[in-house]
Amino acid sequence: MPSLLDKRLVLVTGKGGVGKTTVAAALGLIAARRGRRVVLCEVADQARLSGMLGPLPHEGLHLESVEPERAKQEWLRYQLKSRTLAGVLGGSGLFQYLTAAAPGLTELVTMGKVWDLAQLEPRTGGPGYDLAIVDAPATGHGLAMLRAPSTYANIARVGPVGRHAERIDSFVRDPAQTGVLTVALPEEMPVNETVEFERALQRELVLAVDTIVVNALQPSRWGKEDVRRLEEVDGGGKVARAAIDAALSEHRRARAEHAQVRRLRRAASAPVVTLPRVFEPELRREHLERLSVELERKL
Ligand SMILES: Nc1ncnc2c1ncn2[C@@H]1O[C@H](COP(=O)(O)OP(=O)(O)OP(=O)(O)O)[C@@H](O)[C@H]1O
Ligand SMILES: [Mg+2]
Repeated sequence: MPSLLDKRLVLVTGKGGVGKTTVAAALGLIAARRGRRVVLCEVADQARLSGMLGPLPHEGLHLESVEPERAKQEWLRYQLKSRTLAGVLGGSGLFQYLTAAAPGLTELVTMGKVWDLAQLEPRTGGPGYDLAIVDAPATGHGLAMLRAPSTYANIARVGPVGRHAERIDSFVRDPAQTGVLTVALPEEMPVNETVEFERALQRELVLAVDTIVVNALQPSRWGKEDVRRLEEVDGGGKVARAAIDAALSEHRRARAEHAQVRRLRRAASAPVVTLPRVFEPELRREHLERLSVELERKL
């Protein structure tokens, strides 16, 4: 089985705000350093990747913003093989009606778009990449995107839509080509949700999560002995007291977070790797580079 970065498509999933964009960017940096032509796909109007990465640091790293609406138009055009007809349908509200009536169609065309980007010779033109990394939207943990091709392959058994969906579905379900990375925070609910996501993916699509990244883990700065000493300090000035309390509360937090990581390792089937919390108000390129080096070491 190829490792995560030797696949063609990697979906970075996880709940809102856990660090999906950060981890997707870090993965992109690793793959580009290894000389692969990488496209980082941002779904919907997030536009955060370019802000985080700044001027593109590596020759082979590209950003692509996948707009579900535009992807739908492209898809329709391709399906109908006629720009005129697609234009008429797209503009008439009929298409909107059809897509509203068909749950998961947005996800299907979004998957279709990233699938296309992951081909060496994309249908829609463009350069072709070795690897597409998708920063999946938080809603539904990315499950909806992974599920849509299979749903459509089943609904539209015959005809071009069914065939198209089936091709995407078999690509998505082929672990040699597609990987799933889930990002979580080291807290009780996120850990539960990550385990639940892994099970749902297995149950519904017979698909495994390749890697779980626990992001922004509080480092344990002190050993047992240090902590015991801190706990024994009695009295002291106001300032010293505040500093000691802060240190102890940080220690307790780190301990709780590490306990959640252990719990996740026990409950999950996928390997769990951790990334440290970076103590900066905003992550910049240099921090991403550092996280990417750490991630590469652990993958
Ligand atoms: N390891 C880390 N240490 C410190 N801050 C981090 C770390 N990872 C991410 N952050 C910060 O946390 C915030 C959320 O990260 P990010 O945007 O990657 O999450 P996300 O899952 O993509 O969020 P959304 O669901 O909103 O797209 C950002 O401000 C980011 O800079
Ligand atoms: Mg994001």
